[in-house]
Amino acid sequence: MNSKPAHVVAIYPGSFDPITNGHLDLIARGSKLVDRLIVAVLQNSEKQPLFTVEERMEMLCEAVAGYANVEVSSFGGLLVDFAAERNAHLILRGIRAISDYEFELQMALMNRRLRPDVETVFLMAGEAHSFLSSRLVKDVFRLGGNISGLVPASVERRLKERITVEEN
Ligand code: PNS
Repeated sequence: MNSKPAHVVAIYPGSFDPITNGHLDLIARGSKLVDRLIVAVLQNSEKQPLFTVEERMEMLCEAVAGYANVEVSSFGGLLVDFAAERNAHLILRGIRAISDYEFELQMALMNRRLRPDVETVFLMAGEAHSFLSSRLVKDVFRLGGNISGLVPASVERRLKERITVEEN
């Protein structure tokens, strides 16, 4: 029978373009469940990102500076291979609404098929963040809406530098 590893390491993967307070809530809660949490930014996504991987990692590092057991990294290729490389047996993902479920189920089952020893664990998004996504934050900001309280202050500052608010 397999036993629990002495040191539980989890990967929290994502695009994080940019990090939101929803991601941060998941990091805060997830970091209490494991010995080490590696927040991993996907490189070479098919999506056209607003921020480079380095910029996203910088914003993440600033945001998680207060968590002793959280580190920030990036990965290319298969997530499960990165997990194995880092000796992680858990993948942490958040679920906001039913609409997230189908994609998350596909990924979790594919990842399990690729590496059965890596388990995906889901946390429900906090109710205050269940509507929040990086894409919505960028859209609302671009159209002049108020995003304070939705992202860390440093992210809001970088959005101001990067996006010109559209005038009607
Ligand atoms: O924040 P996102 O964009 O929902 O994160 C998606 C992510 C990074 C978890 C997913 O795209 C991923 O794991 N990509 C790595 C490639 C991979 O392993 N694909 C096969 C698993 S389905």
